[in-house]
Amino acid sequence: MIKIAVLGYGTVGSGVVEVLDKNCEIISKRVGEEIKVSHVLDLRDFPGDKVSEILVHDFEDILNDNEVRIVAEAMGGIEPAYTFAKKSIESGKHFCTSNKELVAKHGAELIEMAKAKNVNFMFEASVGGGIPVLRGIISSLRQENIEEITGILNGTTNYMMTRMDNEGIDFDDVLKDAQNKGYAERNPEADVEGYDACRKIAILSSLAFGKQVNYEDIHTEGITKISTLDMAYAKKMNRTVKLLGTSKKVGDKVSAMVAPFLVDAASPLYAVNDVFNAVLVKGNMLGDTMFYGAGAGKLPTASAVVADVIDIACNLDRNIPIIWDKDKLGLTEYENIVNDYFVRVSDEDGKAADKVYGAFDEVEVVDEPLDKEYAFIVRQMSEGDFNKLLAKIDNVLNVIRIK
Ligand code: HSE
Repeated sequence: MIKIAVLGYGTVGSGVVEVLDKNCEIISKRVGEEIKVSHVLDLRDFPGDKVSEILVHDFEDILNDNEVRIVAEAMGGIEPAYTFAKKSIESGKHFCTSNKELVAKHGAELIEMAKAKNVNFMFEASVGGGIPVLRGIISSLRQENIEEITGILNGTTNYMMTRMDNEGIDFDDVLKDAQNKGYAERNPEADVEGYDACRKIAILSSLAFGKQVNYEDIHTEGITKISTLDMAYAKKMNRTVKLLGTSKKVGDKVSAMVAPFLVDAASPLYAVNDVFNAVLVKGNMLGDTMFYGAGAGKLPTASAVVADVIDIACNLDRNIPIIWDKDKLGLTEYENIVNDYFVRVSDEDGKAADKVYGAFDEVEVVDEPLDKEYAFIVRQMSEGDFNKLLAKIDNVLNVIRIK
């Protein structure tokens, strides 16, 4: 029997206990041994819940129990998760986590520590909820030079945008609904401002390119400026608006960004709706491959944590190598990132076209704009140049990049 401890009995932690309990038989068969949750750590009490019998309030109870081989963390936030991860690994316990803040900030260091101690640090659930995308990159795409990763990485915002687009529901109402369903972060700013997606593209980029990508260095914009009017334009152009995290090799650097993009109906990302996430990976030999599935929610995320527990249980005496060096990856400066842009300007005075041509040499005009508006597309221009030219126009309503 292999004993594991679960840190945090919230949405994901209680899901981990449930998955291990419900699928106990099949998991035991596949591991060759039973996996038993011997401790659950939480500050709260849960009277009447089965977990009460194994509930502890002090992490030292877990740390000092030599029979606990695996610690699965689902608390979220940097501290105390970081301290618990280091103490677990230092004492020879394997550690897995769903905590993207922890992984994005300290992933490289914890991977290195785990290697030195011949244990494993795993974090499948930190990106894409239940989608096995990290394992895909780490093991199935080892033969590839990855050229680009672009994904819908936040379930909450994708759920919101899908409902805003399909049903015209108001931003605040649909956010509340996502929170009630357990998709949203405790602080929903992390979802709607793109911070959560930013941490996830930082983790994906670090794994794909093998070096540290600091999320603070990634230009990030959220969905708060997207309205149903933008959605209407998107429809006219046979596109939709999606919050994307994207990271692409350009020369010897990587261009990374999080922002809402207009996605064409021909793209596989177009059809990714509701809470679903998808990660499109381009390999130099393989071409495009897409990982798709439930990007948030209790059981999908817990399922990914349990996937790590099982992998670890099958590799208790060896470290499975993960290449993610502490050295920083060279990122393209924001001003030099090249994109296509869709721009809406107000045309109350009928002079929008003059103003636009006064600023830009060449644009593609969008037919049939909304009443009293003018809309155009600028192709292949750096963010720096585009913003300089756009600043010459005083009636801009919104800008959305085009994928
Ligand atoms: N708030 C996150 C999301 C949870 O909506 O995707 C999963 O990381």
